[in-house]
Amino acid sequence: MSILIGNQISASPIALGCMRLTRLDVAEAEKALLTAMELGINYFDHADIYAGGQAETLFGELLRRNPGLREQITIQTKCGICPGYYDSSEEHILESVDGSLKRFGLEQVDVLLIHRPDALMEPEEIASAFSKLEKSGKVKYFGVSNMNSVQMQLLDREMPGKLIINQLQFGVAHSGLVDEGIAVNTDLNQGVVRTDGVLDYCRLNGVTVQAWSPMQYGMFKGPFMQCPDYAELNAYIGELAEQYHVSGEAIALAWILRHPAKIQAIIGTANTDRIRRSAQAMNITLTRPEWYKMYKLAGNMIP
Ligand SMILES: NC(=O)c1ccc[n+]([C@@H]2O[C@H](COP(=O)([O-])OP(=O)(O)OC[C@H]3O[C@@H](n4cnc5c(N)ncnc54)[C@H](OP(=O)(O)O)[C@@H]3O)[C@@H](O)[C@H]2O)c1
Repeated sequence: MSILIGNQISASPIALGCMRLTRLDVAEAEKALLTAMELGINYFDHADIYAGGQAETLFGELLRRNPGLREQITIQTKCGICPGYYDSSEEHILESVDGSLKRFGLEQVDVLLIHRPDALMEPEEIASAFSKLEKSGKVKYFGVSNMNSVQMQLLDREMPGKLIINQLQFGVAHSGLVDEGIAVNTDLNQGVVRTDGVLDYCRLNGVTVQAWSPMQYGMFKGPFMQCPDYAELNAYIGELAEQYHVSGEAIALAWILRHPAKIQAIIGTANTDRIRRSAQAMNITLTRPEWYKMYKLAGNMIP
């Protein structure tokens, strides 16, 4: 099963995020990577800042230990977060990519994202950096993360069609991307516009949304599946898991994959058993009543 990222890159609907990979030693990390590949996961998400660069260094070591692997996978990284500030200047973007390539031991990464919106961003500089990276062959495809639709438009004006990804937090316990659409023109809190309709903007413009931290609620508050505040949701997830003969993690991720925008879910576990349980999501499709019931049990209104 695969999706077409930005109408260009064929990829698994579940990607493996490498932010927590350095919790493992090289042999364990290799097992996690090879387990993911065996399950059909072929897309790996990084950032220059994960574990202070160590995640990319560890991944580079895994590539060297497994010749031929590089050609079978898509490697994505991000730049722009510095300690205490954001920097999306041309100089910083170019320097950061050189650092990532060195740590990976590669001459090219497949995808580069600007990690967060930078209040001081200059679209012309970002466009110039992306153009240089494309010409030199250091990066093939480009995107952003955590941006709303107006911020994307601002960039798009300088580089029409170049942005093919926006990576945003999304999951049944952090559903902002669909809340504002479901509750449009109501007086519900859910209806507060927080993303400027970015999910619809992405659909209209052939941009793929990637869902980061699919199992978390709030900003890094922890996985909702262990949280008593989500007892009813978790009980229903348990029922569905039994009905579909899959894990609870698979049901939580299937909720994301059910959206017609063909969102790619970026899981962050480094545990091989949980990677296996998560991958089961790629084999099931929730019904509309199930999707909406999960949404409601996560604490939302269906007006
Ligand atoms: N663009 C951005 O701003 C941004 C921000 C954050 C993350 N990301 C990307 O998104 C990826 C995923 O983020 P994430 O790691 O927060 O994702 P996640 O998959 O939501 O969370 C993974 C964490 O939740 C735990 N977990 C998952 N299911 C669980 C369950 N059923 N019970 C208990 N614990 C459970 C995992 O524990 P175990 O390890 O024990 O399985 C792991 O610590 C990152 O690796 C990174 O690539 C991007």
